Amino acid sequence: MGIFSAKNHLNEHMLPEIIPGHVAIIMDGNGRWAKKRGLPRTAGHSKGVKTFEDVIEMCFTAGVNTVTTYAFSTENWKRPESEVKYILKLLDEYLDICVEKCLKKGIRLRIIGDRSVFSEKMIEKMDTSEQKTAHLRYNLNVAVNYGSRAEICHAVNQLISEGKTNISENDIASRLYTCEVGDPDLIIRTGGELRLSNFLMWQAAYSEFYFTDTYWPDFGKKDLYKAFAKYAKTNRRFGGL
Ligand code: FPP
Repeated sequence: MGIFSAKNHLNEHMLPEIIPGHVAIIMDGNGRWAKKRGLPRTAGHSKGVKTFEDVIEMCFTAGVNTVTTYAFSTENWKRPESEVKYILKLLDEYLDICVEKCLKKGIRLRIIGDRSVFSEKMIEKMDTSEQKTAHLRYNLNVAVNYGSRAEICHAVNQLISEGKTNISENDIASRLYTCEVGDPDLIIRTGGELRLSNFLMWQAAYSEFYFTDTYWPDFGKKDLYKAFAKYAKTNRRFGGL
């Protein structure tokens, strides 16, 4: 069953009153999920795409406006070539499906990261996918060949090329890939590690964090609601009292 299917319709009574507007997700643990089952790591990634579909649907149904996910980092190229190829093929195949679902649900798709390393055909596909959904209200950002340090360098270099000398926080923020959607309220990381792994480091300055040991392919409604419930209880002060 795919994205936005009836299966995942939420029981509203289980949802807390405060829902984060922007949720970012580090989808970790695909490889370990597969290993635990004696399967190749790639099986974990395939299952990971299914979970991605389901969780995105749950987020928007719950009232989230923007979801940003980490699909492929600037560091993931260090993996065996066969695994890299598999993940990128999954992304390529999934893009068409994703655009259709986004169009139906009013979601604007953005692929964030440095896409210049991809084939011309893939770049064109990413551009077209974005253009087709550019008029829509909700936001889904999929980070591909994304790294926060590279993103900040890219922003600064852009400012330099524009002739800027006295660079402000706003200048940098307005050149980041996320400039149109703002900072995440809640960052969820699955798979048990407690780190950001070069994801949205600038944007995470005042984000709330939710870490869980659950491997990404096993992450479901119960886990998502737990994250939302914890977020709803947080007193966000943004440095104030
Ligand atoms: C983390 O698990 C996942 C990745 C590095 C990338 C792949 C992500 C997906 C397939 C999810 C959805 C993607 C798309 C294209 C919509 P890991 O391999 O780092 O797991 P491990 O830490 O257990 O090795």
